[in-house]
Amino acid sequence: MRKPIVVGNWKMNKTVEESKKFLVEFLTFSLNKGVDVVICAPYTSLGFLAENLRNKNVFIGAQNFHYESSGAFTGEISADMLAEQGVKYVIIGHSERRQYFAETDDTVNLKVKKALDSAITPIICVGETLEQRDNGETNSVIYTQITKGLKDISSDDITDIIIAYEPIWAIGTGKTASSKQANDVCSYIRKIISDIFGVEISNKIRIQYGGSVKPSNIKEIMEQSDIDGVLVGGASLVAEDFTQLVNF
Ligand code: PGA
Repeated sequence: MRKPIVVGNWKMNKTVEESKKFLVEFLTFSLNKGVDVVICAPYTSLGFLAENLRNKNVFIGAQNFHYESSGAFTGEISADMLAEQGVKYVIIGHSERRQYFAETDDTVNLKVKKALDSAITPIICVGETLEQRDNGETNSVIYTQITKGLKDISSDDITDIIIAYEPIWAIGTGKTASSKQANDVCSYIRKIISDIFGVEISNKIRIQYGGSVKPSNIKEIMEQSDIDGVLVGGASLVAEDFTQLVNF
């Protein structure tokens, strides 16, 4: 049985002060213990959140990092720096990073390897544009992103990785993929994993859906056979909404 995982992606939202306000409210709710809960916050809030959520069964994630260990990379942050702040997860290859910050499948692959080396769980994002979907290219886009992103990853490491299917046209648009559309692609991702690593491993890896997930649609999404969790932007910013997602 794969343990469900609900991940909030705060993107470039919340100062430390605002993170504190979120936490005060969030800690008044009780959370479903059978679900892994992760908050991916801006760098400035990571240490504060990790410190205050220790022993609360909520883990902290980052939204990006550099694949090199150290050096002349002005403005970047390393995996070790994140780990030192208490970070346990990192989002890699989010479509916004691919679109605005020149992230490629090759840099995704380098980052996946570096995260694994640093004992940080990678959450690899893949997804097609609306144009690609309309042209019937969804599966080929996903295939390329997955196989390149996972290049040279061993079968020992693969089950430590989480894959998030996020159709770009559903992110922040209020347009959710239908649960069947989402599950079809998540099943296809599991099939790619099965072809590379075998069926047993493919049944262990966790695959999330992301894109306009909210309290009103979480139940139906989580009922799908190949969806093991969600990656949530907008609805993760409000403590009560995020709690409802965790307690789906
Ligand atoms: P959204 O974002 O939930 O606001 O659509 C999802 C994401 O970008 O991870």
